[in-house]
Amino acid sequence: MSRAVLIDCDPGTDDAVALWLALASPELDLRLVTVAGGNVGLERTLPNARAVLGLGGARAPVVAGAERPLTGAYRSETRVHGTDGLGGVVLPAGPPAAPGLAADAIRDALRGAAPASVTLVGLGPATNLALALATEPPLRAAVAEIVLMTGAVGEGNWTPAAEFNAAMDPEALAVLLGCGCPVTLVTLDLTAQALVTPARVAALRAGPGGRCRAACGDILAALPPSKRLAGRGAPLHDPCAIAWLVAPALFTHRPAAAEVVLDGPDRGRTRIDRWQRSDRPVNIRLLETIDAEGFFALLGERLARLP
Ligand code: RIB
Ligand code: CA
Repeated sequence: MSRAVLIDCDPGTDDAVALWLALASPELDLRLVTVAGGNVGLERTLPNARAVLGLGGARAPVVAGAERPLTGAYRSETRVHGTDGLGGVVLPAGPPAAPGLAADAIRDALRGAAPASVTLVGLGPATNLALALATEPPLRAAVAEIVLMTGAVGEGNWTPAAEFNAAMDPEALAVLLGCGCPVTLVTLDLTAQALVTPARVAALRAGPGGRCRAACGDILAALPPSKRLAGRGAPLHDPCAIAWLVAPALFTHRPAAAEVVLDGPDRGRTRIDRWQRSDRPVNIRLLETIDAEGFFALLGERLARLP
């Protein structure tokens, strides 16, 4: 029985790999992909999502959403993803986007769904998901889990305090952390364990597969090693969120209390209490470790299933 999934993203090199992993995984029934401005502007993230899904032969509709956060200014991260958003890798144009707006499409997908039957995956600034859940609260009953690549227990990657997705729209993240749905956080501390290295790129490129594996290898090869991680490799953030849904045995996790800072120089910081030392109620599942070898083996095995 596959799991109904909606993915909101900002492709983005790692978003692209996450979309391919989701497409190739029979455990997931990818119903909808919504897109926001994030790593690069919506004018790029939307065609990137269309191209990535088109290359993988996806049938899920792609719907455009927020080009900017709820309150703050839009900012991009071209240092990591390039100005095109896919590390300079050029893909054939994908099918046209579906009409409408992301928040409406998410609500339509939830409306009438059975209780706790739809999983929401957030791989970019959480604006679209927050708009959907804040404007029609009863739809939250249809949500089985919200899996977010966002935040950090420790150091950020946008500022010393804040991870990019959380920093871009902390108000939206606060809506999701307080919405009452089960939330699973995939933080920088987790993704720092899933490092793309030249050896892993070579192994991935050597595997069986078609155009998606080739394009994924090119994208991974273009990822700059992280200075934050002393150049040991490039953390493959967003696919970790998909891997949690496909192969949870690769992870360890614990309940925690998470909140996001909205004001001051630490805006976007996620304050995560792993030990119940604060008076804040547990509101997330925090993924803590990943079996990196198993993760990259899963990615390689699933890419072989794509065209
Ligand atoms: O901080 C990493 C996250 O921000 C990833 O989702 C990346 O694609 C960007 O959206
Ligand atoms: Ca992303």
